[in-house]
Amino acid sequence: MMDQTQRKPDKPIATVEHVTEHLSDADLNDLCDATDAAVEGGGGFGWVNLPSREILERYWQGVVTAPTRELFVARLDHVICGTTQLVLPPSNNEAQAHMVQLTTNFVAPWARGHGLARTLLEKVEEWAIQQGYGVINLDVRESMEAAVQLYETLGYEKIGTHPYAVKLDGKAVKSIYYYKLINSKIFE
Ligand SMILES: CC(C)(COP(=O)(O)OP(=O)(O)OC[C@H]1O[C@@H](n2cnc3c(N)ncnc32)[C@H](O)[C@@H]1OP(=O)(O)O)[C@@H](O)C(=O)NCCC(=O)NCCS
Repeated sequence: MMDQTQRKPDKPIATVEHVTEHLSDADLNDLCDATDAAVEGGGGFGWVNLPSREILERYWQGVVTAPTRELFVARLDHVICGTTQLVLPPSNNEAQAHMVQLTTNFVAPWARGHGLARTLLEKVEEWAIQQGYGVINLDVRESMEAAVQLYETLGYEKIGTHPYAVKLDGKAVKSIYYYKLINSKIFE
């Protein structure tokens, strides 16, 4: 007989965090798996072809240790499934020391739709404001509709489009450039 008291599966636990120490081997492996899945799913960030695991591991270890990069990750049921980064301004550029660049923002296809990208961006903004930054810049391929929707919903302002921003299979692909003023007080 069928069990009439069958429970609905529990809602997965969705969390985000700022990575401030080295990644454990398990976390590094999960981050590489998420990257593989996102690149295979049409990515939308740097890699067009799937890099080898060795290159990916070295890339992520480099991001964690780079003084000009801040790494944020998303977890679903404790497994890293998404990420975003801030690139900080170089110290010789005082006139643009108030701006950070958001890059490499993705959630693996299996973990989408749980609000993780939104929470990641909220966490990034909170951290950037705390550090005294006032503006976040980013760019995204026009074809990445979910990401375009995400940024516009979160108040990113369109600066314009760049028709030659990306080269895919020898063809030019258009990107949209955005900024968000996260703290107007820095201009007072
Ligand atoms: C864009 C992306 C990061 C969204 O991740 P996600 O965790 O599924 O997003 P969330 O669940 O946090 O959704 C937040 C908002 O994004 C937008 N969004 C997400 N998925 C969407 C979809 N399939 N279609 C349209 N809008 C979508 C919505 O505005 C959504 O808000 P809502 O839930 O109130 O409608 C993910 O789809 C992805 O990694 N895409 C490929 C990589 C990419 O485009 N990266 C950006 C490069 S700059």
